[in-house]
Amino acid sequence: MPGALTMAVPDLSVSFAGLKLKTPVLLASGTCGYGEELGAHFDLARLGGIVVKSLTRELRAGNAPQRIAETAGGMLNAIGLQNVGVEAFMRDHLPRLAALDLPILCNVAGATMEEYETVCRMLGDARGVAGIELNVSCPNVSCGGMEFGVDPALTEEVTGRARRAYKGPLLVKLSPNVTDIAAIAKAAERGGADGLSLINTVLGMAIDAERRKPVLSNGFGGLSGPAIKPVALRCIWQVAAAVNLPILGMGGIRTGEDAVEFLLAGATAVAVGTANFLDPQAALTVTAGLGDWLAGHGVGAVRDLVGGARA
Ligand SMILES: Cc1cc2nc3c(=O)[nH]c(=O)nc-3n(C[C@H](O)[C@H](O)[C@H](O)COP(=O)(O)O)c2cc1C
Repeated sequence: MPGALTMAVPDLSVSFAGLKLKTPVLLASGTCGYGEELGAHFDLARLGGIVVKSLTRELRAGNAPQRIAETAGGMLNAIGLQNVGVEAFMRDHLPRLAALDLPILCNVAGATMEEYETVCRMLGDARGVAGIELNVSCPNVSCGGMEFGVDPALTEEVTGRARRAYKGPLLVKLSPNVTDIAAIAKAAERGGADGLSLINTVLGMAIDAERRKPVLSNGFGGLSGPAIKPVALRCIWQVAAAVNLPILGMGGIRTGEDAVEFLLAGATAVAVGTANFLDPQAALTVTAGLGDWLAGHGVGAVRDLVGGARA
């Protein structure tokens, strides 16, 4: 209608580590499997991207039950990198994911440097892998994972090896369980990362008072959900000030306003994890809420929020 007040639809697209994303909202690794279950609830192509469950060279059964515990404001998990192994993933899951109109990022874990390198090389030869996220921050395995991500020299080495094995967009996923996360972020940058994901879960535990035992079979587990959001925001703030790499932010995101806070702290894109277990459409809720927030605040493009908070 001529003269009618029209409100422009905000532009949600972002460029992230060499990837073009329709929206800045992705699914976090380990909380969406290989996409099958959530794909039954909505069209996955409405997402900015999917980060699949950590992949290792061989199939892993993970830790024995009990592997999950609910906490105030979050959950603890000690799944232990259960996955089908990279070959079965490429054969049985990747073709279906690759047919979707969105970037598929593969999270890679390993017990040794060689394992990271091999899995990255194998994924680099596969069709349909948009990028790799290196999990150097899993707190729930006895060997590998977080061992690499809490030491700058090892972080640089594992990133460098993955860099040489894989030519596409390479993210390194950082652990909050360190004294100086900026030092680890700088090490990943030196190793050749194109972007950083943070945060992985916060090391925690639960005690069963009646049995006088830890609840999780592994003893410790990774805390996630709204309880860790302030930790995630602090880590993103510190890392954004320390490196010149784009950040995929995660940790307790449930609403559009949560996502806005992560972007203002310095993230270029965000991932939704634990919230998927409460509501399989949580990522769509976050995306819609983000669009409403931008429209309500007269911001035309989501990229204009990135790093917009000032001390
Ligand atoms: C059950 C569960 C399994 C997870 N598995 C992985 C994994 O395999 N690899 C990984 O890098 N992160 C894994 N994560 C960590 C999430 O990707 C995310 O970094 C973390 O949970 C913080 O986000 P959230 O609070 O939104 O869940 C897992 C988290 C949960 C809750």
